[in-house]
Amino acid sequence: MSNRGHPFAGRSFAVIGDLNRAERLYLYTRARELKEAHRSDDAVVLDRFRINNPDFGMYEVFLEDSTRTRESFKNAAHFHRLKFSELNAASSSFNKSESYADTFANLIGYDNRMFVIRSRLEGVCRYLAEQTVRYRARHDTIAGVSFINAGDGRHEHPTQELLDEFTFLEDLDWRVDEIHLALIGDLYHGRTVHSKVQGLGLFDRVRVDLVAPPELSMPRAYVEDMREQGFTVREFASIDEYLATGGENVARQWYFTRPQLERMGERVLRRAAALRSAITFDPERIDLLPADTVFYHPLPRHREHPTIPVRLDDTPLNGWERQSANGWYVRMVLLAMLAGHIGTDYTGPVGPAPPAEPEFITDVTHETQARRRDREERHLSEGIRPISDGLVIDHIMVGASPEQIRSHLATLISVMKLHGRGGEWVSTGANGAYKGLLFRPGHAGLTEREVRKLAAVVPGATVNVIKNGGVHGKFRLGHPARIYGLPELICRNEACITHPSNGEQTLPSFRRSRDGHYVCEYCSGKHKFTEVWLRALTGEESMGTV
Ligand code: NCD
Repeated sequence: MSNRGHPFAGRSFAVIGDLNRAERLYLYTRARELKEAHRSDDAVVLDRFRINNPDFGMYEVFLEDSTRTRESFKNAAHFHRLKFSELNAASSSFNKSESYADTFANLIGYDNRMFVIRSRLEGVCRYLAEQTVRYRARHDTIAGVSFINAGDGRHEHPTQELLDEFTFLEDLDWRVDEIHLALIGDLYHGRTVHSKVQGLGLFDRVRVDLVAPPELSMPRAYVEDMREQGFTVREFASIDEYLATGGENVARQWYFTRPQLERMGERVLRRAAALRSAITFDPERIDLLPADTVFYHPLPRHREHPTIPVRLDDTPLNGWERQSANGWYVRMVLLAMLAGHIGTDYTGPVGPAPPAEPEFITDVTHETQARRRDREERHLSEGIRPISDGLVIDHIMVGASPEQIRSHLATLISVMKLHGRGGEWVSTGANGAYKGLLFRPGHAGLTEREVRKLAAVVPGATVNVIKNGGVHGKFRLGHPARIYGLPELICRNEACITHPSNGEQTLPSFRRSRDGHYVCEYCSGKHKFTEVWLRALTGEESMGTV
């Protein structure tokens, strides 16, 4: 089956943003159709959805526990009549320290086209999708291979997000203009709520109320990200505190998650009972809820300490059972799309919107030469007077503290291999702020690639190439949209697939966020730009988790 030109065939689904808004709305329309056909037992429509290809191989690889996700995918594969296999993780060669890259290369070699993976390692699906491009080039295979993230550590759970969004829409009469959602529970570890940070962008206007005690609160990077997207975000330490706001302020859609005790340290566990009580709904408070409130939960509920008490199962609050059943429909449709079986009628934009990559190196040589008498230029020329030929890098980390600048000068020297004759120091610029300056007499100048690399290490700096006592070239370095492909980089999240301690021998890559941080493209870990270079400076391989 050749699927060239099909909008979905062979794509991977590592994070919710891998399917853009229009693509997800398409998926929901089809899932709604499938659900109706199933409920009315319409065999003709159901058959149209079926991939019905016993040679199409789908593998489940679950390296962490699961019931719903694993079983709903398995049941979706049965519906589609695929060749379905499961890797027995407990007895596989993962336990002999085999890498993910090698393990999956084998399974692809047996003509499997789709992998559903749950792992504690974050970013694993994106990584495998990239590795597979290389594998296919080595083996000259045509068919695409899809990697579907069924939950990666604390990072994302994009297929859960699909069924959550589908269920929210079902309860909003399929309107996307507005959602007001309360997220309650373990917002720190819960990957299902982390997927909501990008996922809720499905709606035009978003109000999110975060209800969690400080130990379980949403990581700040995610809160900032939601606010940057224009969401209205409020935070409460407990359900009681939330309900006390009263009336219109309380959402009608409540999304509960369980405290993930298995991911918590001793210190937090000692407070388990108090934490649980802050996020457990007390049935006595039912009258304080707005009319038509619906509760959701990705499940599982703890059998002894459910945050939604079982007494509420038979009330109209119960949206979680329908939500869980929706997982099957949504996953059946996802499989049909990624297998290239449905989707030719989709007419919207294809794939995630690529990040804008503005030009970040400005050649200001002419400007500089024309403004020789400019005050700033006179100031700079004093700094570079001793050099007749060489390199001067100025305006390094303007405004940072002298210690930070000194430390970053060391990173710069190490990354750009600028050891040797010359000098570097911290001084005050024209506006009184500290800045770093480095000069290397006799330096032959930089290639374009080196200037780009330099922009990644010292964004904001100016580079002067001096020849015969004059400024031969001058560049102002902006902030690159992406930093990648350099061995000096490190993602400081130990759970990230690229972290050296996980042994996959791959490099991280970072995308600049709207607020000027660098976000790991595998695990979404947010870094200050100096942090991504910490490996260069210290050689240290482990900086703790984000
Ligand atoms: C969730 C998960 O694994 O992230 N469960 C699920 O897939 N339905 C939530 C959880 O484990 O609490």
